[in-house]
Amino acid sequence: MSSIAVVPGSFDPVTLGHLDVIRRAATIFDEVHVLVVHNPDKNAMLPIAERVGLLQKSIAEDPAITGNIIVASWSVGLLVDYCTEVGASVLVKGIRSQIDVAYETPMVLMNRSLANVETVFLLPEPAHAHVSSSLVRQVAALGGDVSEYVPPAVARYLDTTRPA
Ligand code: PNS
Repeated sequence: MSSIAVVPGSFDPVTLGHLDVIRRAATIFDEVHVLVVHNPDKNAMLPIAERVGLLQKSIAEDPAITGNIIVASWSVGLLVDYCTEVGASVLVKGIRSQIDVAYETPMVLMNRSLANVETVFLLPEPAHAHVSSSLVRQVAALGGDVSEYVPPAVARYLDTTRPA
């Protein structure tokens, strides 16, 4: 039986830390669904379709990422409903610090309780430990250079959409 995992997130936008986690997940599982999930608690910068497109481009342009990777989005219903729909029994989350562990723990337990879906934590390269989508959004909005923190496709996109 093939192992199917879901890497969920807002990906607003995808960062080099996310790509590192996706690359690692793709070496462990037969099929990896990178799922853009609408998070109503966050003020989004990019529409979901743009986030999906940037993920697809970023993954395609990264020669280190190989494997069976599907990029999709999920706006209505539980994350575990998507897992059931595609036959995934594992969620993969990137963990940068103890703060991430504390934030993720109730969701891990809830997803296990709801649908017996387990969560695996992967640690990205420490070089990406300070990189988050929210800080990238803030630095970009204030005119800073974010090319060190995001895939080239995202840096190009943010450059072309920057107000003159
Ligand atoms: O990149 P983010 O914003 O940290 O990702 C958070 C996300 C989308 C993974 C999280 O908000 C989530 O799991 N949403 C799914 C909503 C859900 O199913 N909730 C009930 C069980 S926890």
